[in-house]
Amino acid sequence: MSIIQVEGLKYKYPDSDKLALNDLSFNVNEGEFIGLAGRNTAGKSTLCFALAGLVPHFFNGGYGGKVIVDGLEVRQHEVGEISTRVGLVFENPFSQMTGSKYTVFEEIAFGLENMGLERNEIIQRVEESLALLDIVAIKDKNPFDLSGGQMQRVAIASIIAMKPKILILDEPTSQLDPQGSEEVFKVVENLANEGMTIIMAEHKMDKLAQYADRILLLDNGQIVDFDCPGKVFSRDDLHGFGMEAPAATRISKALGIKNKETGYFPVTIKELADEIGDKL
Ligand SMILES: Nc1ncnc2c1ncn2[C@@H]1O[C@H](COP(=O)(O)OP(=O)(O)OP(=O)(O)O)[C@@H](O)[C@H]1O
Ligand SMILES: [Mg+2]
Repeated sequence: MSIIQVEGLKYKYPDSDKLALNDLSFNVNEGEFIGLAGRNTAGKSTLCFALAGLVPHFFNGGYGGKVIVDGLEVRQHEVGEISTRVGLVFENPFSQMTGSKYTVFEEIAFGLENMGLERNEIIQRVEESLALLDIVAIKDKNPFDLSGGQMQRVAIASIIAMKPKILILDEPTSQLDPQGSEEVFKVVENLANEGMTIIMAEHKMDKLAQYADRILLLDNGQIVDFDCPGKVFSRDDLHGFGMEAPAATRISKALGIKNKETGYFPVTIKELADEIGDKL
């Protein structure tokens, strides 16, 4: 069953004469992990906004086509209602903190209080989210005393606590150091394993290759490809879209090693090692 249906989506920012999203149509199945790839200005963030309803409700401009998330047509529903089904994580963890809470626990509880949930339900959900994001040990800390990786995990916990079916992450680690990035990727992997539908815009192709079921490659507001990582990263014209294949794919190409089953170049070191192992 498709949990996301996008039909002929077009969008133009106000005061711009160029379509940021130009006639996109695609479906996402429940539980899939989709990697959003493409050069700067390809339209990744704009698509994230459109899936979460910020486009067109917050950013006005010209809008056409349809976006349906978990049965709701985005244009017909308010952002608040959509946010209980679709969570959106931004690049900068700092900007996602409420700024008015003194502990991580209260920070995560904030959105749940706004939802009008009962106290016991709130406590239970906060505790579950703390455990899932591996941040139980920092629950009494001030959100602004945390490292970037910890802060981003608190931002994700606040969203997860609302139990959305779909989690959208727009380059969640681009402002984090390598350790913080690893912390965030690890929790995203956990959430994917729990069966959550995940859309992640990311410039680190090695990470997308590791996690994604399919890669949605955008360029100039249009879909170039939407397929398994092996197929997308094996494309000879990838450079033309400002993209570089994962390291494993580049090595495989240089060595001429393809995955025997799929016919595509391996996209992770493990996949490459398996192919080499079979040859020995
Ligand atoms: N607030 C805005 N007002 C007007 N145009 C915008 C705005 N934000 C983005 N755009 C334009 O929309 C197009 C898509 O931009 P978008 O930010 O979605 O790309 P992106 O793929 O997320 O890029 P990046 O990798 O740099 O994050 C670009 O042409 C960009 O200049
Ligand atoms: Mg962006």
